[in-house]
Formats: sequence, structure tokens, C-alpha cells
Amino acid sequence: MKTDEIRKKYISFFEKKGHSVFPSDSLVPKDDPTLLFTGAGMNQFKDMFLGKGTLDAKKATTCQKCIRTGDIENVGRTPMHHTFFEMLGNFSFGDYFKTEAIEMAWEFMLYEMKLPKERLSVSVFLDDEESYEIWQNRIGIPEERIYRFGEKENFWPASAPSEGPNGPCGPCSEIFYDRGDGVGCGRKECAPDCDCERFVEVWNLVFTQFDRREGGALSPLPNKNVDTGMGLERMASVIQGVSTNFEIDIFKPIIQNISEITEVKYDSQAEKGKLMNRIADHVRAVIFCISDGVLPGNEGRGYVQRRLLRRAVRDGLKLGKEECFLYKLVPAIADVMFEQYPEIKQRRENIARIIKNEEERFHETLFMGNKRLDELMEDLRDSGEKNLSGQDAFQLYDTFGFPFEMTKSILEENNLSVDEDGFEKKMQMQRERAKVSSQMTGSIFDEGPLSTLKETTKESIFLGYEQSEVEGRVIGLIINEQLVDSAKAGQNVHVVLDQTPFYAEAGGQIGDTGVIRTKSANVEITDTKKSNDIIVHIGKVVEGCIRQDENVSSVVDTERRGAIKRNHSATHMLHSILRRVLGQHAEQSGSFVSPERLRFDFHHFEGVKKDEIARIEELMNERVMENATVTTDQMALDQARKAGATALFGEKYGTNVRVVSIGDYSQELCGGIHVKNTGEIGIFKIISETSIAAGIRRIEAATGHEAIAWTRRKEQMLDSLCGLLDTQENMVVQRAEDLIRQLKELRKDVQKAKKDGMQKKSSDFISKAKDISGVKVVAEVVKGADADDLRKTVDSLKKSLGSVAIILGAVGNGRVTLIVSLSSDLVKKGLHAGNIAGDIAKIVGGGGGGRPDMAQAGGQLPDKIYEAIDLGLKILQKEIDYDS
Ligand code: ALA
Repeated sequence: MKTDEIRKKYISFFEKKGHSVFPSDSLVPKDDPTLLFTGAGMNQFKDMFLGKGTLDAKKATTCQKCIRTGDIENVGRTPMHHTFFEMLGNFSFGDYFKTEAIEMAWEFMLYEMKLPKERLSVSVFLDDEESYEIWQNRIGIPEERIYRFGEKENFWPASAPSEGPNGPCGPCSEIFYDRGDGVGCGRKECAPDCDCERFVEVWNLVFTQFDRREGGALSPLPNKNVDTGMGLERMASVIQGVSTNFEIDIFKPIIQNISEITEVKYDSQAEKGKLMNRIADHVRAVIFCISDGVLPGNEGRGYVQRRLLRRAVRDGLKLGKEECFLYKLVPAIADVMFEQYPEIKQRRENIARIIKNEEERFHETLFMGNKRLDELMEDLRDSGEKNLSGQDAFQLYDTFGFPFEMTKSILEENNLSVDEDGFEKKMQMQRERAKVSSQMTGSIFDEGPLSTLKETTKESIFLGYEQSEVEGRVIGLIINEQLVDSAKAGQNVHVVLDQTPFYAEAGGQIGDTGVIRTKSANVEITDTKKSNDIIVHIGKVVEGCIRQDENVSSVVDTERRGAIKRNHSATHMLHSILRRVLGQHAEQSGSFVSPERLRFDFHHFEGVKKDEIARIEELMNERVMENATVTTDQMALDQARKAGATALFGEKYGTNVRVVSIGDYSQELCGGIHVKNTGEIGIFKIISETSIAAGIRRIEAATGHEAIAWTRRKEQMLDSLCGLLDTQENMVVQRAEDLIRQLKELRKDVQKAKKDGMQKKSSDFISKAKDISGVKVVAEVVKGADADDLRKTVDSLKKSLGSVAIILGAVGNGRVTLIVSLSSDLVKKGLHAGNIAGDIAKIVGGGGGGRPDMAQAGGQLPDKIYEAIDLGLKILQKEIDYDS
């Protein structure tokens, strides 16, 4: 049975059992900054478990994309660990509980997966007699195949009671497949909790009935729930009878591809085979991250992704692959994942380019790191040391991204070593720092006043699509993270209303501003945000006192919102035009819409050319003038996709979506506020086009009043330019060109005059040259010359005079330049220009030196230049006399 088939069977089995099928959540948890990546199927349902959710369904099933980095060291080495994997799950929100969950799981294993029951064993939490009894009596599993384990194995999250995290949790029961006593440790008493590879844990049934609170108290949840998770790749390896996940049908082609590219034969047990496993795993994870909108970076998710990719590059190096190659795996991975994730194939080119860019950067990093390490080894040898300090190794790692193992092995190859403890200490310090600065604590849900409010209010009603003024009621006031009964003039406050016209920042559109009024109070709202479906108005009481439960009238600043609307609709139009002008790859990677500007980030691998910019602007304004209608429709996600609506990279949408259509050229899933007709946009103007990351460009543009203001500013600039150049607008370019040409000619004249002057000076110097024992000596200060002029003068003097010693000095920018030059006969006699330059430079407060025949020196004491030249003369006199 193929992996695709297992996935399908699972979902349709539970659908038949009355579960609603939900799409996978994004790998980037929505509304949950505390979590790095989605790590389980239950994440998207946590509010349902807590009794605060708004879904209609009481039973759900999903195939969830997950990333877990906790076991990262095992990935590739053990048969079953991954960073990215798919988790099949069925969920009950206060509907069925243990009996049905266990019965359905058993039915699926036996009749859908057709696994022999003798091969299956199960575990329950220590004193969970209820589950034990169900397995033993209802299902008929013999006692010796029912195990009891503690909270580490049979509680989810693992060890939650004693260690956390806070949030929904519960005892669990696991199902294991026994691969037989020929596999693994071979001990008679081997059991599912053994570390060996005999028992494969394929399914975890969690009975989510507690809410862990701070301090470890387990308070019962309003409902008893079920959360299950089956590792798809593990199940496939069991069904397909292969010994590692990397040999199942959806991994084979990837591994094969790696083997072809690296020209290394695959053997899953060999060291190199394990590296290939890890490459396959990591590149798959990176691809899914990118597809969910995470780009490689230096923080948070982007950093995890960067590290995965870098590790894969290093594994590649160990396989002898020195060029970029990971990006070449994208098509193979897109193909095997196509059935469930067609979007990867559609976006494979963008994804591959991002990976390639990142690979190239890392290769450069390694090159720089190698160079630095060479220098450090040189220093070690010079000082007779053998041990590289922990600080230096850490700097290589931290600044150059150079892996520690690499540092170590290169040092060893050179009979040197490294202070590992010192390095570890530095690493530890960095980890501590990261912990403090990271907000991502791993807790499954956030607490605080909004969480309390959420218990009574499921969501705030948003009426802002049709109205900008709404009557409502205060249902929550928050000051300094505390719920309060009232807020008075001067206080900063967060206001929650039962219904509101204020748009909360989302989908790149900035939050609304305006005012909330009660009988006595005025609250100025400066921003609006949303958390967990609750709209929070952020502002300050400017007058009176606002109280809980009071009636209010809330009024949006419509002028500002008008500007936002224009920019938002223009963003959609721009997206469609960019793809038309630049190509289908020019997809949105981010956007921000404020009243002043729209900012649009998209995939494109070179700068947008001038003529393309012009064309984009032209098409945009054409469409503005067409005055097409903008409509919004509510529809099922499937229907929207079928209609061809654009869904964004990495966005997760509900089952029911809002589609914004503009003319016949743009249809996007969007919850934002738009103009009714494109004509309202007035005018569209691109302000700038820049690069913001490898392969990502940014266009900033303005519409309406702001676009006009921008053009006006340009006009004023032109006006002042005309004033400065004393000409008319239509002549300004020509006038500037004329001036530039004149300037060039003048510069040429000046150069020539200077040259003539130098030549004249040279002949003066020749006639003034002293004769010391048959040697011509020129020692002069050359006014107005720079170092280059001095060198040229020296050259011409040398040509005209045979045996000659020259010392020239000049002052420029408060610095002295000295040049000493000797003809070869003097050098042969033992005179040394470098030494002389060094000696005389001391007089002007500096130093220098150079070759025996030619040297340059400098100093900061212009007043002493004559003294220096005099000294030079004396030295020459002495040395020439001495030699003759
Ligand atoms: N949430 C449970 C797990 O991840 C099913 O194992």
C-alpha cells in the first residue's frame, strides 16, 4: 500500500465515522507566537479542547504537516525520526472518549491496514484502569501485550504533569507494531519502551481531559476530548515492510536522486546512507517551510531552517559533493508529495532558487571560515602553541557560521587541537542569551487577560465591511495586562467590544484608528489588533471615564481608512500585473498596507528593470481608469480554489473563505477592506524597487492623495533645480549637460596647467641641483603637489640626471609626504632610500620606508618639512662623501 493510499484511507475512514475533514494547518502556527512550528495535529484545535473554540464540528480528522526539532540528533541515524513529518489524527471535542477512540483505532488497524493482531501491543498510563479494561476486555488483547508506562511515555505532552507545558493534556494509550524478535536488541524481555528498533510506535491516542496550569495543577477541562496522532511515514514503513522510513515509497525517489547526484551508492545501514537519509529529511523540511512562507534567516523559524539546510550542505560535503546540489532535489520531492501538496510542484522553481541562493551563501561562508582558520593556525604555529582557544573556535562558529566539528577535524589534520570546554562554555552562554531573548517558550497556549475574556466571549463581531460607525458595548477593559472595571482620562487602555467597525491588523492591512465614545468618555484609538478572534482597540482615554458594560459608539477615522482601502485594492491589482509582466513566479511573499504606502514583496531573481516598472505603472493606471467593480463573496475554500482564486504562500485559511474579485483579472482570498470601484484609487505611482532578501524584491507605491503629494514633491525639486541652474524647466537637462561638459573641460585645463608647472619646476630643480662629489643632489619642497605629482617629478628628474639623489617633500591636507629616490650607482655603493626616508620622517612626526632605490614616508607636522629636507641633505652629504 502506497503512502498516499494510507493517508487517504485514514481520512475517509474517519469521515465515514462522522468526522469533519479539516485541511492541515500551516507549519507556522497562526495567532501563536509562543510556538516555533506546528508540531502536532491538535495545535489548530487547542481552543476546541479548552472549550473556547468556535468550530461547528465535534469530531474532526486531519493530516497535519509537522516539524519537530527535539530529536534532531537522531534524524537519519535511527529508522523512524524526522524533522518534517505528516501526522494523521482524529479528534473529539467533548464527543466520544476512550471506548470509541480505542475501538475505532483497532478497527482501522485490523480492517483497513490489515495488520495481524498478534503483531500489535499497546500501552496505557500507569493507573488508567479504564483504558486497560477496554483493551483487555472489549478488544481482547492478552495481558502480556498491554504495558503500563509512566508520564514520560504515556502522557501527552510527555511528562506534562511534572514539567509542563501548560495547556490541554492528558494520559495516553499507544499502539505498537512488533517487527519480531529478529529485529533490535534480541533480549527476551524487550518491550515497547526499549530503545531498540523492534517495536514501532505507530499511533498515540491522547485522552485530553486536563488543563495544566502554572505550577503543575491539572484542572479538568469542561469536556473530555480525544486527540490522536499516527506518524504517516512510520505506518508506511510498517505496511511496506521496510526497515527504515527512508525506504518507503515517498522517500525512495528522493534518496535515489541524492545517490545519483552524489554518485554514492545507497545503503541504509552505512554511515554514508545515514547522511543521505538526513539530507532527504532536511531538504524536505526546508521545502515545506519555504512553502509555508518561512525564509532562511538569522532568527526563530528562519534560523532553524537555515541550520537544517547548512547541515545538509555539510553532509553533502562529507559525501564528496562540493557544489550546490540540494536545490536539485526539489522536483523529486515535489513529485512524491504531489498528491497531498500540489502547491509544492507549482512553486518548485521559486523554492529551488531560494534553496540555491542559501546554499551558495553557505559555501561562501565556509570559504571565509576556512581562510580565517588558516590564519588562526598560522598564529598558533608562530607562537608555538598547539591548542586553539574556545573563544576563537566560537568566533569561527558564531561569526563565520563555521561548524565546530569542521574546525576540530581540520585542526586535527594539522596536528593541532581545540579547547572544547572553552568552546562549550561560550556556546552555553549564547544559549542562555537566546533563551532570554526568545519569546518562544513552547507553551501550547497563551495566558493572560485575553485568555480569561475568551472564556466568556468567543469572538468580537466585526461590522466594518459595511459600516464605519457602530453602537456596541464594552465587554473588556485592560490596563497593563490586567482586566479592570474602568479607565479614566490619561490612561492607556485596551478596549474589547461586543461589536465594532474597527478593522484589526491582519493580512498585511494596518489596524484602524478612530474614537470610542461613551456618555462621558472619549477614547482615542491609535491601533487595532486581533488575538484569537478577539478584536482589541488600543488607545488612550482623553476625556471622562469608560466603564465595563457601558454602551459605546465607535467611529473609525474614515479618511485614513479611505487611503488604506485604495492601497489595499491596488496591492491586489499589482500582484496580478506583476505576474503578467514579470512571469507567474512573481508571487507575493509579503505585503503591508498603510494609509501612506503600500509595500509589496514578491519572488523575483533580479532587479525589476526601468521599462518594466514603467509598464507596470501604465497597466495599473489603465486598470484604475477602467473603473472595474470590486466584489466580495463568501464561499467554501474548495470552491474558491476551483474558481482560481489566489491563495497566498503559507497562509492557512478556514473552510469558509472570503474572496475579493477585481474586474476579471484578480481574485484573492482576503479578509481586508477594499474600494468599491478601481477608479477610487485615483492614481498609482511606484516609489521604489529594492531587494530585501535573496530572490525577494520589494515594491513600494502610493495611490490617491499620497501619490499626488509625491509627484508634487518631485515637481518642487525640479523647480528648485531650475532656480539653481538659472534656467527653464524644458531646458534644465541641457543646461545640466552643458555645465557638466564645461566642468570636464576646466578640469582638463587645470590638469594641464599643473603638469606644465611641474615640468617647469623639474627644470628649475635641475639647474639648482647641488653637486656633491660628482653626484647631483635635489632636495626640495614642491608647493601644491600631491604624492602622485612628486613621483612623476622624481621620474622626470631621474631621466635627465645620471647619478642623482632626490628628496622631495610636499604638504597636502595637513599631512607631509616625503619621497626619497637614489640612482642605482648610489644603491650599489650602499645608500638606502628607505632608511633615509625613515630617518627624515621622524622629524615630521611620522614614519615610513621602502626599497633601497625608492621610498615614501609621511608625517603630521607640516611646519617641520624644511627641517626634514635639510636633514636629508645632510645625510646624503655625509654618506656620499663617506663612500667616495
Ligand atoms: N498530540 C499527540 C501527539 O503528538 C497525538 O503524539
